[in-house]
Parts: sequence; C-alpha cells; structure tokens
Amino acid sequence: MKILLLGKNGQVGWELQRSLAPLGELIALDRHSVGQCGDLSNLAGLADTVRAIRPDVIVNAAAHTAVDRAESEAELADTLNALAPGVLAEEAAQIGALLVHYSTDYVFDGSGERSWQETDTPAPLSVYGHTKLAGELRIQAAGARHLIFRTSWVYGARGGNFAKTMLRLAQERERLTVINDQFGAPTGADLLADVTAHAIRQVLAHPQDAGLYHLAAAGETTWHAYAQHVLAQARLEKPTLPIKATELAPVPTSAFPTPAHRPLNSRLATQHLQSTFGLTLPPWQQGVNRMLAEVLA
Ligand SMILES: NC(=O)c1ccc[n+]([C@@H]2O[C@H](COP(=O)([O-])OP(=O)(O)OC[C@H]3O[C@@H](n4cnc5c(N)ncnc54)[C@H](OP(=O)(O)O)[C@@H]3O)[C@@H](O)[C@H]2O)c1
Repeated sequence: MKILLLGKNGQVGWELQRSLAPLGELIALDRHSVGQCGDLSNLAGLADTVRAIRPDVIVNAAAHTAVDRAESEAELADTLNALAPGVLAEEAAQIGALLVHYSTDYVFDGSGERSWQETDTPAPLSVYGHTKLAGELRIQAAGARHLIFRTSWVYGARGGNFAKTMLRLAQERERLTVINDQFGAPTGADLLADVTAHAIRQVLAHPQDAGLYHLAAAGETTWHAYAQHVLAQARLEKPTLPIKATELAPVPTSAFPTPAHRPLNSRLATQHLQSTFGLTLPPWQQGVNRMLAEVLA
C-alpha cells in the first residue's frame, strides 16, 4: 500500500510519520519538498503529485493553522484550508484513493454547554473556522472515500505548545492570568496519529465506515484548569523545577482580545468514532502527563 502524507512536519504530521510507517510505503512531503510538490498553495502542483504517485491513501495534515493571522490572510487561508483539500479529494476520487483530513471544533459557534455531535449545524466565528468548514464541504462534494476528523486543542511534544508556555511563564512570573471560560479537551498529536492509522485500516476493509468523526481526548477542562494541572504535574515530575508562580488567576476570554473570535464551547462528542472503530479515547490528562514527562526529562 502507498500512502501520501502532506504536512509531514506539523504537530500531527510528525506523529503520522511514525504511526503510518508500518502500514505501507510512506511518501511524506512538506511545502519545501523538492521533486514532488507538497505545497498546498500550488493547486496544480498538488494534483500533479497525486497523479504521479497514485497513492492508495492520502493523509492531509497540512493547513493554515494560524487562527488570528487567518483574519487578515483570508485568501491564503481559503486556498490552504478549502481549495487544496478540494483538489486532493477530486484527485482521490479519480484514482479511488482514501483521503484523510483534519478539521476543527472551530466550525461551531461555541454556544451552549453540551458536546457537539457530528450532526450539529456548523456556524463558524472566524475566517479559520469558515475555511476549515469549506474544506470539509469540498471533500464531501468531491465524492471520494474520506475520513474527516474534527479535533480540538491539539498539542505535540515537539515544538511549542500551551503547556510549555505555562511552564516557561511560571518560572518567570509570580502571577499568571489564564482564560477560564473556554471548555475543551487537550488532544495529543500522537493520539490523533494512532487513531488515524487504526481508522485507515478499518475503512480500507469496510468502506462503509468512511465519513466525518469527532476525535478528541476524553473529559473536559478550561485553559485555566489545564494550566493548574500542568504546574501540579510538573512539581511532581521535577521537584527541582524553579517555579516562581504562586497565583494562577482565572480570567474571561474578553481579558485577552484577539483578532479571531474563539468558541467558548469546544467540547466534542466522540461516541460515533469510538463505537464505529471499537476504540477508547483516553482521558486528556493521560496524554498531557506523558508529554510533560518527555519535555521535563
Ligand atoms: N492545533 C490545533 O489546536 C488544532 C485544533 C483543531 C484542528 N486542527 C487541525 O489539525 C490539523 C493539523 O494541525 P497541527 O496542529 O498539526 O498544525 P501545525 O502544527 O500548525 O501544522 C500545520 C502544517 O501545515 C504546514 N503548512 C502551512 N502552509 C503550508 C503550505 N502552503 N503547504 C504545505 N504545508 C503547509 C505547516 O508548515 P510550516 O511549519 O512550514 O508552516 C505545518 O507543518 C490541521 O488540519 C488543523 O486545522 C488543529
């Protein structure tokens, strides 16, 4: 089996390089790849890449993920998040390939307190959310077999992430202010990559299981409670860490004005994924603790 992976060096792409490797021949590209085009802004180049490689599975982990910058780069965000997945889906349909793609809880408006189901009506608040929703719709319209995973609050051990920022700030300042009115579940890029590999195998054997799924770690938290957890866990993991912060002050989203509006309710209901694929999504603390153990080692 041949798998084409786009966005190989992003948080999720990096973990997919690991989790997809045992499934077959993996051709992993990023936007700088030479020889084959992995640049999502080059739509003709992307189509040529798929035609040349003729993969059985295309996994697209690349996207315009800078949520605030997208507000002033709407055209680029639309090309990367909507047009490019559309091209990949059309090319996948031509060759009978399975397309795997990632979307976001930002397709919802964040109202209410219950977890969003796959059947709920999207109503994005931001350019990023609009373009990600447009990408989903283009994939669905192209008629290719696909898996779209909507996820939330993604972190990886590699590169920057919220937990690492909190650890750094807690060593620099005595008082930190953290948002406490957004709810979601921090989800590890490693978990996303592992679930992706399992789901690909199942959909190749049972094409009727293709479709749109919500995929996030179990449980819920706020950024404030997440930060509290990170500092408490860091103290356990590395008692010598010079943490200065003695106060973690909870503040509303309005205390940190940003160009993009963010949903307050990012809870995703994942029963559909768990029952279709026979998988169990672990509590968010499990992945966060593991990541902290790695970064504090
Ligand atoms: N991060 C989250 O909290 C979150 C939440 C929900 C859903 N998602 C979705 O999950 C997926 C993976 O996100 P992630 O967290 O892994 O994001 P990420 O770490 O920002 O990775 C995105 C990747 O896309 C690449 N990219 C940007 N422009 C490109 C272009 N023109 N051509 C090719 N590649 C390009 C980036 O490369 P450079 O590094 O070179 O820019 C980066 O490697 C995305 O679809 C995202 O929308 C993420």
